[in-house]
Amino acid sequence: MNLILIGFMGSGKSTLARSLSSLFHFHLVEMDELVYQKTKTSNMHEVFALGGEKLLREMELCIAQEYAGKTNQVISTGGGIVLDPTPLNIFKQAGARIIFLNAPFDLVAKRLEHDRSRPLFTHLAQAKKIYEDRLPLYLQAADEIINIENQSPYELALIIQVRSL
Ligand code: S3P
Repeated sequence: MNLILIGFMGSGKSTLARSLSSLFHFHLVEMDELVYQKTKTSNMHEVFALGGEKLLREMELCIAQEYAGKTNQVISTGGGIVLDPTPLNIFKQAGARIIFLNAPFDLVAKRLEHDRSRPLFTHLAQAKKIYEDRLPLYLQAADEIINIENQSPYELALIIQVRSL
């Protein structure tokens, strides 16, 4: 069984993935880190400089193909994984559970206020437009939705564990 976390930048996928991996004793897979390994880069600005957003999306598809057949993983995806339905469909066909972290835009904007690591979150108005465009894609792809308010990652992990009983 694989748990796939989807959601906008700053929704807390990576932190929750760490809590889930210790709670479920699952391998932790951080897609952005795998993209860096595969492209021999060390951050997302370098990935974009090398091949633009197109390279990122190609790498995400490769990673889905490579990891969908493995089991007992919690996979933290990049926020744009929903732009092409193929990667998540590959995971779904292999029986994965797709969990959408539904965080309000104001919350992610606050969290990323001083964070310059994301090429697609540099201007607030542009980021808000991306958020609004993607919301229906996350909702459509999700098997379940977790509304993010001010719960700790551990509390969120417990909610997911209880729902899987
Ligand atoms: C992106 C989200 C980022 C990273 C890249 C693009 C996006 O991952 O993949 O900067 O398109 O939403 P996080 O969601 O982990 O920030």
